[in-house]
Amino acid sequence: MGDDDKFTFHDLAPTQESFRDAVIAGLICELPEYYLTRTEIAILDRFAADIATQLGPHCRLIELGSGASQKVRILLEALDKPAAYVAVDISREQLRQSAARLAADFPKLAVVAVCADYTRPFELPPLPGPDGKRVGFFPGSTIGNFEPQQVVAFLTDWAALLGAGGEMLIGVDLKKDPKILNAAYNDKAGINAAFNLNLLARINRELGGDFDIDQFAQAIRDDRGTALPFRRRRADPHREFLQIRDRRIPRPGRLGRIRGDPHLD
Ligand SMILES: C[S@@+](CC[C@H](N)C(=O)[O-])C[C@H]1O[C@@H](n2cnc3c(N)ncnc32)[C@H](O)[C@@H]1O
Repeated sequence: MGDDDKFTFHDLAPTQESFRDAVIAGLICELPEYYLTRTEIAILDRFAADIATQLGPHCRLIELGSGASQKVRILLEALDKPAAYVAVDISREQLRQSAARLAADFPKLAVVAVCADYTRPFELPPLPGPDGKRVGFFPGSTIGNFEPQQVVAFLTDWAALLGAGGEMLIGVDLKKDPKILNAAYNDKAGINAAFNLNLLARINRELGGDFDIDQFAQAIRDDRGTALPFRRRRADPHREFLQIRDRRIPRPGRLGRIRGDPHLD
């Protein structure tokens, strides 16, 4: 049986994937400065049994932006006979690889891989197994990437998808010293910089942009701890930063405003 036979795959994302984005994002999670992953893993290790009790038997766990499907293993080990794990990710190749690894490591679990954009409406495929509650799993403080009104729309959509009795487990970072944030999002090895500059390369490639990438470097906005590309210029990097953010793309396309994570108090 090939790896692909051990899980079911649903391709709902007609968009281009970026395996490079996915690989770099994985490297960011492993950086010594990136406290979020190890903190969240420590929290899951500590509370997995309590979470499992709360969720009950036969639940279907649906991870939004499943990436390497690493953290979820802690939950899957703790859950009482989980009926299914549904990995939703936009990065097709990474999704296939992670689902195959997870299915091999949890042979009794029904693993469903859904290549989709979780910010846009889509139907979940029929889920196998006994009819337990649907639980959304959204770790990594990714919810902080949304504007407040987007959060409301996102949670409203997902409440409908999870259905009556559904639950959502969301990892949210707390407000903290900007120095810690700056270190995490502007690491010494330059992995965050590579990720952010790759955004410009993708805009050029996928939306017909014409950014001269060599003219850009990693920048920090001190007030929010956000690291994003900006044009090299001594006088006022923040002004340049805003110019880049507002820059128009020559071909119609969706370029969301690039913002950093707000963190909760
Ligand atoms: C940093 S990884 C997080 C992986 C895992 N959830 C964790 O916390 O360790 C973020 C993942 O979300 C995926 N992703 C980002 N935006 C997405 C979207 N709009 N729809 C689906 N997947 C998305 C990326 O491809 C990536 O694999």
